[in-house]
Amino acid sequence: MPPASKGQSVTEFATLDDLRVAGKTVLLRADLNVPLDQGRVSDVSRLERLLPTLKELSQNGAKIVILSHYGRPKNKPEAKLSLRPVAAALSEIVNQPVAFAEDCIGPIAREAIAKLKKGKILVLENTRFHAGEETNDPQFAKELAALGDIYVNDAFSCAHRAHASTEGLAHLLPSAAGRLMQAELQALQQALEKPERPVAALVGGSKISTKLDLLQNLFGKVDILVLGGGMANTFLAAKGTAIGKSICEPEMFETARTIMQRAEQRGCHILLPRDVVVASALKAGVSVQTVSTTAIPPDQMILDLGPASIKEIKENLMLCKTVVWNGPLGAFEVPPFDHATNEVAILVADLTKRGKILSVAGGGDTVAALTNAGVTHGMSYLSTAGGAFLEWLEGRELPGIVALRGAPSTMKKGKVIM
Ligand code: 3PG
Repeated sequence: MPPASKGQSVTEFATLDDLRVAGKTVLLRADLNVPLDQGRVSDVSRLERLLPTLKELSQNGAKIVILSHYGRPKNKPEAKLSLRPVAAALSEIVNQPVAFAEDCIGPIAREAIAKLKKGKILVLENTRFHAGEETNDPQFAKELAALGDIYVNDAFSCAHRAHASTEGLAHLLPSAAGRLMQAELQALQQALEKPERPVAALVGGSKISTKLDLLQNLFGKVDILVLGGGMANTFLAAKGTAIGKSICEPEMFETARTIMQRAEQRGCHILLPRDVVVASALKAGVSVQTVSTTAIPPDQMILDLGPASIKEIKENLMLCKTVVWNGPLGAFEVPPFDHATNEVAILVADLTKRGKILSVAGGGDTVAALTNAGVTHGMSYLSTAGGAFLEWLEGRELPGIVALRGAPSTMKKGKVIM
């Protein structure tokens, strides 16, 4: 079991409201780990989400020095993992030149910072080109800290990494959360720490084994747990349902049974599929049929939820005040197996728009599934974080957040820093 969440309250640490940044060099940890296609950024959503922090720091006269990793280099420079093209894409988004330095420490970084004017932005090269980043080496963290006056962490999506630029720096400089980090924490807190009830969690994806901690944390916190995707097959099979040639994890049957039993004891109602869409293979154009989960043909596999399952999920969601979503409900990449995910996504977006629910979604394939459903902007909050979002749902303390909260008292919320 993961350690119980201690409630990572956003009010416990400083935000941009607590900073006086005019003329100061702000080291801004951002997540510039965005997809590149032939040298160009193919999805700029993570960059756009940095705009509130960048604008505010710039308008208040800070010199903004962005630190980020990119990809997973082996502790040394790799041309294809340079942040240079990302800095160029950021420049288009902020509509002003963004400078770039070919190292994140040492003379190259120092000279670039010395040339930086108030309100302007500089991106330093991939922090993971140095071994000290991932080992959270105190000396490397000190070299980073020496470059600036204040540390702002706006990379919730990297907060599950205890690296020098995500954790170490918070112990060395006056520190605060950026606006994106603040928004992300507020949304997650509202959804799981102090939610309006009833709360439903929709959990999909292919495997239980990767979501065990998440399920164990969620059934203690939510009133309704909707299971979909391949992982629901394992739960069905564990209850004795014949699931044909559907994907399944037999070694998890016992665990699935324990989860169902414990959820029941904690008053969490688990919704498993009643009917499903099956086919002989996962491929476009294959012939499909809808069957009850009690009548799945042995040569068929479950690829989506059927209409009765969708109806039951919708009826339950309509009774809720809060919805947390992680993972698609079917094999959404291949139509028509995106139907259940799309139908439920459209309902969640509609309930959100009408102010009936607070909805928070994120992690893994969730953003792609909701984008496919056409509701990217339909959630109260759609997290672009992958691993960090999952670890939050698992109830883990994220080192990047703990470090912000644990900063010395002079850096705490309510005391203007610097
Ligand atoms: C992400 O893309 O989820 C973050 O940038 C973290 O990347 P990492 O898994 O390589 O640490």
